[in-house]
Amino acid sequence: MSEISTLEMLAKLIDEKKPKVVVDLGSGYGEKDKTNGHINDYFLPAAEKYPETAFIGIDNDYTPENMPKDLPNTKHIYGDIRNIPLEEGVSDITFDAGCSGWVLSSENGYKVFEEIHRITRNGGIGFIEVGSEFLQVLPKEKTKQKKLKELVNEAYRVGKISDEGGGYHLDVSNEKYSKLYDEIRKIVDVPMEDVMNSFGLQIIEKIPYDLERHEDPQYTYLWKKGEKKNHAPINLLGTGYKMLERIQNELGE
Ligand SMILES: C[S@@+](CC[C@H](N)C(=O)[O-])C[C@H]1O[C@@H](n2cnc3c(N)ncnc32)[C@H](O)[C@@H]1O
Repeated sequence: MSEISTLEMLAKLIDEKKPKVVVDLGSGYGEKDKTNGHINDYFLPAAEKYPETAFIGIDNDYTPENMPKDLPNTKHIYGDIRNIPLEEGVSDITFDAGCSGWVLSSENGYKVFEEIHRITRNGGIGFIEVGSEFLQVLPKEKTKQKKLKELVNEAYRVGKISDEGGGYHLDVSNEKYSKLYDEIRKIVDVPMEDVMNSFGLQIIEKIPYDLERHEDPQYTYLWKKGEKKNHAPINLLGTGYKMLERIQNELGE
């Protein structure tokens, strides 16, 4: 597996698949329109390179005032990627660069996968670029939930540090706390591939992302649209401190 940049990946897919429509989730702003620190490293460069392809960018941070300027083959649309304002099957290639990683652990984050599946045409393909090999999912089994509750409460007991400001934080350098955190992750970690496959996004390849842009390990998960799976919503927990709080909120102390 060699590293590949998102723009290279996109160009490779466009050259191979000759799509009519490409959808970019969390498309951000053009470099020239940079606002709020949000950039767009791919949408406009790719649209300029492939003028025959229509590019649709979705972002929930666009406002009428800061909407990036469209090229003849682009359309920026305000929208949330958990509820994409596009019809079923419109996209030949659906991709996300640095957006869904954040959104997945927000409320109803799993809908990102459902929506990617819905808007992509049958036979369509795409990729997401995220900094994680795992998603943290609350297990359904009561015995695992009980164990999790005990571990989380213990982690708070040994790791909690009072703060002079009246709040608290968890001491990640505390060895006991770190061991408990590792135990917690053994219960809640589900490989990213398994979660995506379960939503009908069949993983073709997991590729390390070019590290020039990110210090943490990053992966590009290349997928193709498979059969729609009907399943109950899954409860994605986020990571770190937030994850522990979510577990306590769900399971009680
Ligand atoms: C790290 S930036 C990446 C921008 C661009 N994709 C790039 O790689 O250059 C993440 C983008 O996702 C957008 N975003 C975050 N949550 C979103 C949501 N729920 N729906 C749509 N866009 C979202 C942000 O507004 C931001 O523009």
